[in-house]
Amino acid sequence: MTPILYLNGEFLPKDQARISVDDRGFVFGDGVYEVTRALNGRLFEWGRHAFRLQKSLREMRLQPKLSMEELEKLCLELLLRNGLTKGEASVYLQITRGTAPRAHQFPPEGTGCTIYISAAGVDTAPIAEKRAKGVGVITTPDIRWSRCDIKTVNLIPAILAKQAAVEAGCEEAVFVRDGVITEGSSTNAFAVIDGYLRTYPSSNYILPGVTRAVVLDIARELDLKVSEAPVHVSDIPRFQEFFITGTVSDILPVVAIDGRTVGTGRPGPITLKLYEALALRLYEKSGTRVA
Ligand code: PDD
Repeated sequence: MTPILYLNGEFLPKDQARISVDDRGFVFGDGVYEVTRALNGRLFEWGRHAFRLQKSLREMRLQPKLSMEELEKLCLELLLRNGLTKGEASVYLQITRGTAPRAHQFPPEGTGCTIYISAAGVDTAPIAEKRAKGVGVITTPDIRWSRCDIKTVNLIPAILAKQAAVEAGCEEAVFVRDGVITEGSSTNAFAVIDGYLRTYPSSNYILPGVTRAVVLDIARELDLKVSEAPVHVSDIPRFQEFFITGTVSDILPVVAIDGRTVGTGRPGPITLKLYEALALRLYEKSGTRVA
């Protein structure tokens, strides 16, 4: 079945969707996006995604005509139209500054934003396998700009970093800025050092991940010792555990960094405890059975 997507006011089959070559998302990467998890046709933590999207839009001075409530309804409708009301899916939403002849400054007033939403099923089996074994990551210099908190579609440093990770046989590349680990190319990063769960503080140098926020909430509920403090690369040999978080991968234990074993070389107990609690939230709320 050809997937149905939403584009500028219409639901239509993917092969009939058309975007102008003058779209500023295409020409300049002038747009923002969100990826939201869906379980049994419901959006997980939509409120947090909507909050982050509003911030991205504000910072980019983008003013789409649709409200967060209207966008949410469209995402839900899209899940329905694609038969994704059972099981796992993800929803991709992108808003660009619209279509206008190429000029760096904003397009003429009245130019509408391009709004695009797609939905796809997610096969969690390969992710579960990775979670059971743990994954490897590489470190790479954080060459991104200083507004990593805005979720723009300009993802070149992330693409280059992820490709380097794949070529090294790894799951993810973890960025290092001024000697500290900021986050992964499309994930947030957590370390366990001296019994403390540590992650880079929410700032302009990371994307404030929805999964990161949920994991921090859970960690505090579980009375774990939590510290939002930068982790230095020189601390890597002291890592008891390390893991990455993201909307589709949830929590993935990292068992090797740049080829060096982390902790025991197996997914650690704190990582697994956090995942168990996260899975409960994910699946309890949606009524899906835990795999
Ligand atoms: N990436 N950091 C970066 C740089 C990201 O791009 C992402 C998400 C995250 C994790 O955020 P969340 O938990 O809200 O998914 C952290 C999305 C999923 C992507 O680019 O596909």
